[in-house]
Amino acid sequence: MKLITNIHQLLVTGEYQKPVAGDNMNELHMLENAYLVIKEDRIYEYGLMDDLHPIAADEVIDATGQIVMPMWCDSHTHLIYAATREDEFVDRINGLSYQEIASRGGGILNSARRLREMSEDDLYKDALKRLHKAISLGTGAIEIKSGYGLTVEAELKMLRVIQRLKKDVAIPIKATLLAAHAIPERFKENRDAYIKEIVEEMIPSFCSSTETDSPLVDFVDIFCETGYFTVQEMDTILTAGIKYRLKPKVHVNQFTSIGGIEKAVALDALSVDHLEELTDQDIKALQGSTTIPVALPGCSFFINIPYTPARRIISAGLPIAIATDYNPGTSPSLSMNFVVSQACINLKMTPAEAIIAATINGAFSMDVANETGSITKGKKANLIITKPLNSYKAIPYHFGESQIETLIVNGEVL
Ligand code: NIG
Ligand code: FE
Repeated sequence: MKLITNIHQLLVTGEYQKPVAGDNMNELHMLENAYLVIKEDRIYEYGLMDDLHPIAADEVIDATGQIVMPMWCDSHTHLIYAATREDEFVDRINGLSYQEIASRGGGILNSARRLREMSEDDLYKDALKRLHKAISLGTGAIEIKSGYGLTVEAELKMLRVIQRLKKDVAIPIKATLLAAHAIPERFKENRDAYIKEIVEEMIPSFCSSTETDSPLVDFVDIFCETGYFTVQEMDTILTAGIKYRLKPKVHVNQFTSIGGIEKAVALDALSVDHLEELTDQDIKALQGSTTIPVALPGCSFFINIPYTPARRIISAGLPIAIATDYNPGTSPSLSMNFVVSQACINLKMTPAEAIIAATINGAFSMDVANETGSITKGKKANLIITKPLNSYKAIPYHFGESQIETLIVNGEVL
């Protein structure tokens, strides 16, 4: 057993049956001057130092002045890709928009061309390095999407890389099929044929793969957006995924509001992600649903588009999660700490709301809340011990700098 003593603030304590929503997001449950016991890879118990009873610990970590909290839950990433896209970054500096770059064959299609040329092993090696970097920045659970393949073969290659990561890296990892990320060049004149390929070939074959114990795909995603996929196409693809028990998690309302949220809610999506453009009708559709809104402020920052109106979402009594959207086109940063700062500075969320959005609500957004995302007895001991800080408010305050002193992953000091 490991014992952490004298914890200045122990954050996100307690039991969570559902995402934290509305006004409750501003109530960060915590203990001050606390201890925590780890047994094997789990949180065994925690409490106030005043109540600490003799414990036969093999190792004691003194956390005087330090904050202990669950590792970040990054519920939306595109971790697998072949090449960075800094030329497009410069094109944007010179005045082109994301959509203009995409219409010239850049963007997602650019990444898809590069990925098809790269071997599974090389993709795996790069992805593994990035995953270790994410962990070193405090991420303790992650969702990873396909979507730079856009052929049966290349989408499968991406999913197999994710499956290998699941096997080799012991943090919760979820795989999302995002074959409907863009219409590939070869289907430009016949988009229905690509939809058919996803529905009739990819989903059935990927979901019945019996190569290993863990599923190749956990969720189904689509980029529902003007110039990408319509609401009708989203209905077709998500419905096909649901038949194979894939819960939808969708890219929607990034540039325009076209009714995708209402449809996603009707299909009982786990999350709707982006939401930079959000109408009152979209908010109404989310009220009374279990679909979680997810904001991706790194994307807004990097491609200079509006930020998700988090205050409107929270005022409507809804929960919100935040994630990196890590990808080579719109958000090449794996830092959840930076996203938490952005949530405070650009989305006007309080530090309490931002920390909840990046931990327990993130965990619910990728269906791992039974395992991680809070300081709860029995959950995985995936913990951040910060440097000495006056309070948790200093975590987003020090933007762009990691406040991590020690990481505990699966009960082991990293
Ligand atoms: O979440 N919006 C769609 N997909 C990604 C960007 C993909 C890319 O540009 O490579 C996103 O921002
Ligand atoms: Fe994304």
